[in-house]
Amino acid sequence: MSSFNYIDGELHAEQVSLRQLAAQFGTPLYVYSRSELERQWRAMDEAFGDYPHQIYYAVKANSNLAVLQVLAQLGSGFDIVSGGELQRVLAAGGGAEKVVFSGVAKSEQELELAIREGVHCINAESEAELNRIQLVASRLQTTARVGLRINPDVDPKTHPYISTGMAEAKFGINMQAALARCRTAVDLPNVEIIGIACHIGSQIVTTTPFTEALQCVLEFVDQMQDLGISLQHLDLGGGLGIDYNGESPPSAQQYVGAILSCLHDRGVTLPVGIEPGRFICANAGLLLTQVEYLKSNGDKRFAVIDAGMNDLLRPALYQAEHRIVNVIESAPSQKCLDVVGPVCESSDVMARQCNIAAAPGDLLAIMSAGAYGFGMASNYNSRPRAAEVMVQNDRSSLIRRRESFEDLVRGEQFFEAD
Ligand code: LLP
Repeated sequence: MSSFNYIDGELHAEQVSLRQLAAQFGTPLYVYSRSELERQWRAMDEAFGDYPHQIYYAVKANSNLAVLQVLAQLGSGFDIVSGGELQRVLAAGGGAEKVVFSGVAKSEQELELAIREGVHCINAESEAELNRIQLVASRLQTTARVGLRINPDVDPKTHPYISTGMAEAKFGINMQAALARCRTAVDLPNVEIIGIACHIGSQIVTTTPFTEALQCVLEFVDQMQDLGISLQHLDLGGGLGIDYNGESPPSAQQYVGAILSCLHDRGVTLPVGIEPGRFICANAGLLLTQVEYLKSNGDKRFAVIDAGMNDLLRPALYQAEHRIVNVIESAPSQKCLDVVGPVCESSDVMARQCNIAAAPGDLLAIMSAGAYGFGMASNYNSRPRAAEVMVQNDRSSLIRRRESFEDLVRGEQFFEAD
């Protein structure tokens, strides 16, 4: 069941008319369903049954304060990759004690903020980073809780740009070095190793890569126990894929079921954390856009829309395929066209060879845009970033206003010789 359905021939977000939202807030416009966010989060949470676990929502997928607040109110934890994300979580009412800090390049300032705020765990990705955590924690005269992020060298069979757990990736500590890093960490007086972390990639559509990675993690758990380290949790990262355009990824139950059965087979009862991003919010959002022009170049036909790669980068960057549908239900066109954005780049194509019926002024919805949509938006071509609206039942609320020219130039100043 989706939260975006046609009611009397018009696409709605829950019970709110998208045509009315476009009239009220303009386009391009991100629209999120609050109920869908909740449903997805609960599906993941409930799949664990009574197995001890924590969901750490990956903030990078969609970091709007209103989205974070919905999840914080459900009891979610958060996976962050910067000081900015931590500040967002705290501003939205999330608790630092439910935050894990991932990422390959945590700065001293970011570590200091994270340690001061008391995050649950910092996932270290290198020896150099362990040493930096030690330095900052000793300066603050405290002990930092740390997880080691291992790189299990598993192919997640996804787009290369979002594969993170293969040997050649910059992420994690490779399995050969991991035990040595562990020994280093044990000797650091202000570092306490509490967990192992692993994240192999994103938009993964079968359970096998996850269970292969988990086997590596579990082998490593045994080795750590031999060193006398008792772990408090396993952090298995995010990465569960969604249906963008016909994929059939595992359900939350199948995904969690596969994890729990591996743990059960090995007799492991440690608490588990997972860091889903896309699964929670991708299908809870769409990007509403208007057709500006139709044009043909030779045999090629284009619908030029008012949303571009600066608003939704995924098609240009990952050749991602998002479904595009008419807001006013229409029969498919006999003729194919490319749906293209206004940005001055040939890669600014939202979809190729669509059968969509499009006329100037028509509203289109680019589906599954709730994750890595607004969060990756930029001001390229000096385009103000879109507004964001959240709906629930028949109510809607502006959760980020459209940017203005003043927003575009905020912080800039003319050259002044001194
Ligand atoms: N945990 C860590 C450490 C991560 O690096 C990521 C995503 C996640 C969790 C969440 O993964 P998810 O459950 O959302 O797949 N911009 C790309 C996706 C980049 C993902 C980066 N890391 C896209 O639009 O597909």
